[in-house]
Amino acid sequence: MSDPLIQLRGVCKRYGSGAAELMALKDIALDIAAGEFVAIMGPSGSGKSTAMNILGCLDTPSSGQYLFKGAHVEALTRDQRARLRRRYLGFVFQGFNLLARTSAQENVELPLLYRGDAAATRSKAAARALASVGLGGWERHTPAELSGGQQQRVAIARAIVTEPAVVLADEPTGNLDTRRSHEIMGLLLALNRDHGITVLMVTHENDMAAYAHRLVTFVDGRLAHDVANAHPTTSAPAEPANAALA
Ligand SMILES: Nc1ncnc2c1ncn2[C@@H]1O[C@H](COP(=O)(O)OP(=O)(O)OP(=O)(O)O)[C@@H](O)[C@H]1O
Ligand SMILES: [Mg+2]
Repeated sequence: MSDPLIQLRGVCKRYGSGAAELMALKDIALDIAAGEFVAIMGPSGSGKSTAMNILGCLDTPSSGQYLFKGAHVEALTRDQRARLRRRYLGFVFQGFNLLARTSAQENVELPLLYRGDAAATRSKAAARALASVGLGGWERHTPAELSGGQQQRVAIARAIVTEPAVVLADEPTGNLDTRRSHEIMGLLLALNRDHGITVLMVTHENDMAAYAHRLVTFVDGRLAHDVANAHPTTSAPAEPANAALA
């Protein structure tokens, strides 16, 4: 067995101090292998987003260790963490987090701009990423001209345009209706199955968690359950016959 891609060892996260101190994460141990599709569940305030921010190298543990490909993330400088993030990680958020008044194409090109890619490279890669999420032909549209489901597709294109090893999605379907949610899950599933991308997804919905191969549950800052999903959903439901009327 090769080393896990991701390892949390005794990770704690403390917010505030004194009477206001709050332990958002308590002694978290978690190994994730390359190619896994993990759903993270648990009540509001249980520490899911705090864990995702640490896993996404956006924040650091108060104590404990985070190893990514065997490297100690907690010992990296802010710049080194940013570099790791740009090279290996893609993010999808509940609120899409697209730049308004900026075309889908330019939104998707942004991570490549940060990386210093040339204009022609950016343009080609972004167009390809948009096509892969079913948005070929929508490149010039701004977020305001797109539905919520389409905006989240743009966000997924932006997350994958750098060909990341891991996509971290914090409640990616939280703002979408059931049909759009399943469409987004179909895309995440394809990234995992067809491209070998490791997917870590926070969700409150059992129907969406059912796509994952592993279910991790946080309760009150602790990792309470970690179970395999023996029968994951393997395809998003087809469009209902009367979709045109929906
Ligand atoms: N920046 C912060 N400063 C202080 N406390 C915080 C901060 N971020 C989170 N917390 C607290 O840490 C705990 C865990 O929050 P977290 O956002 O990780 O929960 P969550 O499981 O993602 O919840 P939700 O399902 O509502 O998104 C909560 O009690 C929250 O109030
Ligand atoms: Mg959260």
